[in-house]
Amino acid sequence: MPDEKSFHMTPEEFRQRGHAMVDWIADYHSRIESFPVLSQVKPGQIRAALPENPPAQGESFDALLKDVDRVILPGVTHWQSPNFFAYFPCNASGPGILGDLLSSGLGVQGMLWSTSPACTELETHVLDWLVGMLGLPEKFLSSSSGGGVIQDTASSAALCALLAARERATNYSSNKKGCDGKLVAYASTQTHSSLEKAAMIAGLGVENLRLIEVDEKFAMHPEALARQVEADKKAGLTPCFVCATIGTTSSNGMDPIAAIAEVCRQHNLWLHVDAAMSGTAMLCPEFRYLQNGVELAHSYNFNPHKWMFTSFDCNCFWVADRNALIQTLSILPEYLRNQASESGSVIDYRDWHIQLGRRFRSLKLWFVIRHYGVEGLQHHIREHVHLAQQFAEWVRNDDGFEIAAPAPLNLVCFRHKGGDAANQIIMDRLNRSGDLYLTHTKLNGKMTLRMCVGQTNTQTRHVKRAWERIQEEAQKLA
Ligand SMILES: Cc1ncc(COP(=O)(O)O)c(C=O)c1O
Repeated sequence: MPDEKSFHMTPEEFRQRGHAMVDWIADYHSRIESFPVLSQVKPGQIRAALPENPPAQGESFDALLKDVDRVILPGVTHWQSPNFFAYFPCNASGPGILGDLLSSGLGVQGMLWSTSPACTELETHVLDWLVGMLGLPEKFLSSSSGGGVIQDTASSAALCALLAARERATNYSSNKKGCDGKLVAYASTQTHSSLEKAAMIAGLGVENLRLIEVDEKFAMHPEALARQVEADKKAGLTPCFVCATIGTTSSNGMDPIAAIAEVCRQHNLWLHVDAAMSGTAMLCPEFRYLQNGVELAHSYNFNPHKWMFTSFDCNCFWVADRNALIQTLSILPEYLRNQASESGSVIDYRDWHIQLGRRFRSLKLWFVIRHYGVEGLQHHIREHVHLAQQFAEWVRNDDGFEIAAPAPLNLVCFRHKGGDAANQIIMDRLNRSGDLYLTHTKLNGKMTLRMCVGQTNTQTRHVKRAWERIQEEAQKLA
C-alpha cells in the first residue's frame, strides 16, 4: 500500500531543524550586542518585506530561517540585550527557554487535572516552593486554605483578584445579577494601569476605582486611603478591594503594605499586592522589609517573566482563600465533568483564571529554579541591584544630573537638570544610536529617565558604558 500523503515534518526532520533552530538561538544570544537595542525600522517596513499572499506550496525550513534573519531581525527590539534598560526587564535564560520548548513539545493542554496531572501538580508544587523562596505567608500554600496558580500576566491576576473581591463583597451575587454601581476599589495614583482595565472589565467602572494620593516617595498614603473608604461608606457605597504595589512601574514606589492592610482589616476589604517586577527581589531576605505586612494580604502576584529569568509569559498569583476564587470563576458544563474532579481531591486550574485552556508553563519555572538553585537566583538579583545602586551613585556625583525618586532596588529614576527638552533629546539620541535603550516617565510633572537593570547578562561594563553614553549626550547639549 502506498504511504498516505503527508505534509508533516517527520520526527527526523524535526530533530535536524530543531538542532538548527537551537544553534540559531545560541548564535543570536552570542552576537546580540552587535544589534541596535531598539529596532530602527519605520512603521510598515516589516510588512512591506513580506509577500502579499501566503505560500500555496510549503517552503523549505532554510528559506524560513533566512527570512528570520532578513525580515524579522531588523524589526526586533532586543529585550535580551544586556544593554536593554527600558521599561522593566523581560529576562530569558537558557533553562527557561528550554523549559518553554519542552512545554511546546509535550503540547499539553492542562485545563483539568485529568487532562495532564503533571501539568497541574508540578505547578502546585513549584508555586508552593516559591511561597517559601519569597518569604510569603503559609496561608498561600496549597496545603493551607489558599494556593498559587500561573497566570499569563499581572493584569490577569489583578482582574481575578478584583473579581473574587467583588463576589466576596456581594455574597457571590454580582456574577448572577451584575454590578449595582456601588462597589468601589482603591489603588494609588501610581498603580499600574492594568487596575483601571480590571475595574472596567469587572463591571465596577473606572469611576469607581479611587486613585489615592501618594507621598514624596510615590507610596500610597494609608491615611488618605482610610479617609476615602470612610467617605465612600458614608455615601452608601460598598468598598471591596485595595491594590497595593511593591515596586510601582513608573518609579519603583513601595506602598506601605502593613498600614494599608490595617485599613483593609478595619473595613473588611480584599487586599491584593502587586509585586510584578520587584517581587523577584524577595528571593533575597535582605529586601523583604519592602513587603512587611504581606501576611495580611488576600492575594499576591509577581512576574517571573520580568526579572526571574523565565521567558514571557509567566505570572505567579496566590490567594489566601482559594474557595473565594474558585467560587467566583467556576462553571461546570457537562463535557468537562470527570471522576477526578468530582472526587474533590484534585485541583482543576481552569477554575482559577479567566480562560479555560492552559499551557504547561510551570516547566520553564521548574527548569529555571532547578538550574540556578536559590543561591544562583539570589546571586544574580543581588548583582542587578548592586549595579543599579552603583549607577545611582554615579548620577548623584554628577552636578548635571539628579535622582528623581528613591531607588531601593534595580530601577533608578533620574534626570538631567536641563529640563524636559534636554532629557528628551538625551533619551532620543541614545535610543537612536542603538547603543542602549532607556525609557522615561513623568514624576512631579517632570520628564524623568528610567534606568532599569535586570537583563540576564547585564554586567558592570554595560552599566558603566550606559552611564558614559548618557554623559556624552549630556555634554553635547552644552
Ligand atoms: C507594577 C506592575 N503591575 C502590573 C504590570 C503589568 O504586567 P503584565 O504585562 O504582566 O500584565 C506591570 C508591568 O508593567 C507592572 O510594572
